[in-house]
Amino acid sequence: MICDNLTVGQNGTLHFARQDTVALAARYGTPLYLMDEQKIRENIRAYKNAMAAHLPTGSVPEYASKAFSCRRIYEIMAEEGVHIDVVSPGELYTAKQAGFPMEHCFFHGNNKSDEDIAMGMDNGVGCFVLDSFDEIEAVEALAAARNITQNVLLRVTPGIDPHTHRKINTGTVDSKFGIALQTGQAMEAVAFILQQPHLSLQGFHCHVGSQLFDVAPLLDGADTMLTFIKEVQTRLGYTADILNLGGGLGVRYTENDPVIRYEEKVAEIAAHIKAVCAQLQLAVPRVMLEPGRSIVASAGITLYTVGSVKEVTDYKNYISVNGGMTDNPRYTLYEAEYTVINASRAAQPADYTATLAGRCCESGDIIQRGVSMARPERGDIVAVLTTGAYNYSMASNYNRIPRPPVIMLRDGDSYVAVRRETYADLCALDE
Ligand code: LLP
Repeated sequence: MICDNLTVGQNGTLHFARQDTVALAARYGTPLYLMDEQKIRENIRAYKNAMAAHLPTGSVPEYASKAFSCRRIYEIMAEEGVHIDVVSPGELYTAKQAGFPMEHCFFHGNNKSDEDIAMGMDNGVGCFVLDSFDEIEAVEALAAARNITQNVLLRVTPGIDPHTHRKINTGTVDSKFGIALQTGQAMEAVAFILQQPHLSLQGFHCHVGSQLFDVAPLLDGADTMLTFIKEVQTRLGYTADILNLGGGLGVRYTENDPVIRYEEKVAEIAAHIKAVCAQLQLAVPRVMLEPGRSIVASAGITLYTVGSVKEVTDYKNYISVNGGMTDNPRYTLYEAEYTVINASRAAQPADYTATLAGRCCESGDIIQRGVSMARPERGDIVAVLTTGAYNYSMASNYNRIPRPPVIMLRDGDSYVAVRRETYADLCALDE
C-alpha cells in the first residue's frame, strides 16, 4: 500500500496504524478523519534529526500548521521540540491555547493587520516574517509603542517556478507573497529594516512551492537566497543568521508518486547549502525548513459510508458517500489525486471503476474520478488515503454539513482530538 501504516487485516478490512478502520467507523461514526500520531512524530523527527546532523546548531524544522491545525497538533510539536509557522491570528490563538512556547512561533502571512501584529507581540511571538514595506512600518510602529525589539525575517520572492499546480506555486516574481528579489526591492527592504530601531533582522525567508518530489527547485531557491545573503553582506554589511527555505516536499498520494525519504532530502539540501556557502565564502547560516504536508498527510485517512452506487447505463458509475468537498475540497480546487479503497472489502480485487462523489448539492463535488475498488454496497466503509494535510484545515460547512471529528490513533488505542460538529454548533453563531 502507499504507506507503511496501512495493512489489510485478517478479517479482510483495511487497518490503519494497526487498527481496524471499519470498527473505528462503527465506534465514532462517519465521515471520520483518522490521524496516526506515531506517523506524525516519525515524520517530524526525520526532519529534526537530519537537520541536527547536517546543518549548524539551531537549524530546526518549523511545522507549517496551515496543513493541519488544532490544539493537539501544537502539543505534539511542543513535545517534539520543534518550531511552528502560523499564518493567522486563529492559528496563533490555537497554538497559545495548546501551551505552545510562543518564542518558537514564526508569524507569517501577506496581510497581517495591526490587530494581528499586536496580538502576536502581546503573546511573545518569536519572529515575524515580514512580507511587505507596509508591514515593516507597521511592525516597527507597534514594537516602538511597546518599547520592545522584535525579531523579524524578511520574506523574499526568489523568482523560481517549481512547475507545480499554479494555485500552490508561490515563489515566482509575480506573487502576492514577499518582496521581489529581481526588481531590487528586496535589497531596498533590507536597508529599510536595518534602519528601524525596534526591529532585529534575523535573516531571510522564501518558499518556492508545494508537493515537490524533486529538490531541484529548493536547491535553486537556496542558491538564489545565499547569493542574495552574500550581496547584502557586501553592500550593507549585514550578515543573515537564518535562512528559512520554506516547506514543500511532496507526499505519496498514489502508487505513481515516489517514496520520499525526508532525511535523505534534508541531507541533500544541506550538502548543497554547504557547497554554495564555501564557494561564496559565506559562513553556513542556521537553516529552517517549514514542512506542512509531509508531516501530516500520510498520517491521515478519511472514512465515509457509501450511500448509493449508481450505474449510468453506457456511461459510468457513481459511488456517493456521506462527505465530500466540505471535508476534502482538494479535488474540486486542484484536481488533486487520491487513492481510494473499499475499507470493508480491502482484501477483494479492486475491479470496479467509478467516480467517488460527495453529498453536496453541487456537481463539482467530486472526491476522485476513476477510482478502482471492490464493488461497494450501501453501508460499506470507503477510505480516502493521505488526507492528513489540507483536508480538515480546509474543511467548510457548505450546505450546513457538520465537520467530521479528528480521531487520533496511538499505541493501539484512539482518542478524540477534535470532536464532531453538531447541528447545534452550526446554529451557534446565528443571532
Ligand atoms: N511555508 C510557507 C511560507 C508556505 O506558504 C507553505 C505552504 C508551507 C510552508 C508549507 O508547505 P508544504 O510543506 O505543506 O508543502 N492548500 C494547498 C497547499 C497550499 C500551500 C501553501 N503554502 C493544497 O492543498 O495542496
